[in-house]
Amino acid sequence: MSESENRPGCPMSAPHPSKGFNEGLTYNSYLKVPELLALQQYESEPPAHDELLFITIHQAYELWFKLILFELDSVIEAMKGDEIYEASRLLQRVLQIEKLLVSQIHILETMTPRDFLRFRAALNPASGFQSIQFREVEFVTGIRDPSLLKHIDQTDDDSRRLRERLESPSLRTHLYELLVRQGFEVGIPPEEGELTPEMRTQNLEALWRLYRYPEANFHLYTLAESLVEHDQNILLWRFHHVRVVERLIGTKPGTGGSSGVEYLSSTLERRAYPVLWEVRGTLSDEEIYGTHE
Ligand code: HEM
Repeated sequence: MSESENRPGCPMSAPHPSKGFNEGLTYNSYLKVPELLALQQYESEPPAHDELLFITIHQAYELWFKLILFELDSVIEAMKGDEIYEASRLLQRVLQIEKLLVSQIHILETMTPRDFLRFRAALNPASGFQSIQFREVEFVTGIRDPSLLKHIDQTDDDSRRLRERLESPSLRTHLYELLVRQGFEVGIPPEEGELTPEMRTQNLEALWRLYRYPEANFHLYTLAESLVEHDQNILLWRFHHVRVVERLIGTKPGTGGSSGVEYLSSTLERRAYPVLWEVRGTLSDEEIYGTHE
């Protein structure tokens, strides 16, 4: 058997399509493995056993957030071009990653409250409040509370991205604009704050048609439901995160200065697509199956 026939199935072992062969490239040099493995640096002294888990899990989240944001930007581009199937297809990857992120938080439950105390003070005042990419995911989705920007160091170069997100239309706005172009008489909800009662009623009525006859606009319906699932995944992550926090620190305040569990519990109803959640409650079985007398 020749060397090329003997290559393992991993696509990374395939020759570079344009050059034929990428001389000198290895798994470690391509993926920058040595650099990656040098990024876990303890703050505790002497090093606390569980700090490596704590750093690793946060870094893994930030890497996945990066990919989620990259994919959501592609979803927006597809929506702008009325490529409804493609937008929905790209969202499926995001949804799968989010499922992983929801379950991953529980690895932290293998740490005891006492072991966390061995290094928690050394992290003060760093906090999840300062995760720029988490806020970016919220802002791009349509969950926007600019007051939370006060936790982000505005001299940080990356905070510029966050401000740009705040000035750009969210996925929700792109969805409603798409609905208008597809013949649904919806109003475009504001990026911040509540929508008016009149617009809520108007949008519920217009969206009723999409949910009453999903087969008539199947790709659009799938896209809307995928966005609801994205909203749901963020909520599920919040719920699982707050329970893990409670198991580890109880009712102690957070290192970012919030009340901790009490604050996090107050975020559990933040939704980007309240009308899409509500519309299914407006369907009745009589409309669908007729009345049986
Ligand atoms: C031992 C584990 C953890 C504890 C005790 C913890 C605790 C907290 C607390 C108390 C807050 C409220 C803000 C504050 O006052 O600091 C918070 C917020 C936050 N944490 Fe965690 N956390 C943990 C793990 C994680 C992980 C693994 C992530 C992954 C990225 C994360 C991301 C966040 C984010 C994004 C916020 C802001 C949430 C919001 O404002 O809606 N946390 N965390």
